[in-house]
Amino acid sequence: MAVQTMQGLNFHLTEEQLEVQKAAREFAQRELLPGVIERDDQQKFPYEQVKKMGELGFMGMMVSPTYNGGGMDTISYVLAMEEISKIDASASVCMSVNNSLVCWGLEKFGTEEQKQKYLTKLATGEIIGAFCLSEPEAGSDATSQRTTAEDKGDYYLLNGVKNWITNGNSASVYLVMCQTHPEKAHKGINCLIVEKGMEGFVVGKKEDKMGIRGSDTHSLMFTDVKVPKANRIGEDGFGFRFAMETLNGGRIGIAAQALGIASGAYELALQYTKERKAFGKFLHEHQGIQFKLAEMYTKIEAARLMIYKAAFLKDNKEDFSLAAAAAKLYASEIAQEVTTEAVQIHGGYGYVKEFHVERMMRDAKITQIYEGTSEVQKIVIARSVLK
Ligand code: CAA
Repeated sequence: MAVQTMQGLNFHLTEEQLEVQKAAREFAQRELLPGVIERDDQQKFPYEQVKKMGELGFMGMMVSPTYNGGGMDTISYVLAMEEISKIDASASVCMSVNNSLVCWGLEKFGTEEQKQKYLTKLATGEIIGAFCLSEPEAGSDATSQRTTAEDKGDYYLLNGVKNWITNGNSASVYLVMCQTHPEKAHKGINCLIVEKGMEGFVVGKKEDKMGIRGSDTHSLMFTDVKVPKANRIGEDGFGFRFAMETLNGGRIGIAAQALGIASGAYELALQYTKERKAFGKFLHEHQGIQFKLAEMYTKIEAARLMIYKAAFLKDNKEDFSLAAAAAKLYASEIAQEVTTEAVQIHGGYGYVKEFHVERMMRDAKITQIYEGTSEVQKIVIARSVLK
């Protein structure tokens, strides 16, 4: 097993990183907090807010300035994701998919032509991207792609259905995993860039979800869609590798989202214990509540360190797949625990929709499911530690 080190441990954020964190915090308070309950209730995608996130550089944070990105490191991205997720996890999943899965994948593996055509607009948030791997019968078992891309010479004929696609309707560009050579199993999979409006491509039903209800999750249908060969990412059969490599980074983004949901709920609970009295004293004066707060704090801190480590390894071009899977597993588990405790501390108020912790507890659940369930993270971790 490879030993992963962090040379000269340094817990101080740089000036630039602190500025990004502050900008994201202020943006979330100013632009996302108003209306977040209503958007959740009415399942309204935050179009206006996402547009502003693009203008502030949050949609292509790690993309090189050559392609209109912010040229920032993964730690800065994690900091921004945490701040945005503290307030609105529906906006942050849109941001995470666009940054980690779409922009990062295109920049790392796309052709110059693809980068000029798509990445330059995705990085500014002028358009939004979606990552399309899941299918009705291929969720965790991602090698079992049923969507087919028949090689027709200078184009592929794409047929199939994708499910639970984040940014399903709001996106303009879709990275679609599909099977071209079934006899080669996962080595026959390709990733094609599909544009909204291509003939035969239809955005299907919107999912009515438990949480992240402001994000638009849709099924997608492809019927004889002609996708030019120039829209394939990487060599023929590179699609599964592309998906796995991209998801490694995506897991850092979702871990940061889980961290944000947890820390947002913790901050609200902490504040509430200073305002609410029971049995003649403030809640925080009861030792039972103090113990809860101490446990919540400790879990959040541990998750944060794991995420920073994964981000650090990625920024230093070291293998970060194990660290990312472990961070995502742990952060999503503690997001469930911490938000549940935050609701508990709020008592009856925590169970009603005017109080943000109610939404946060619902939002936390998805972080254990998307970009690989907790079970998938355990597979990735176990395979790595058993090598
Ligand atoms: N990084 C790099 N490569 C990886 C990898 C990783 N984390 N995991 C697997 N691979 C590679 C393997 O090395 C192997 O390569 P070779 O064939 O060259 O040896 C290849 O992929 C196949 O690997 P396995 O034999 O391990 O494949 P498997 O079928 O046993 O399962 C899995 C692998 C890890 C379970 C994988 O299927 C997986 O990650 N599934 C979850 C998919 C997922 O995360 N879906 C989420 C959808 S996207 C989403 O949610 C976005 C959104 O909307 C928010």
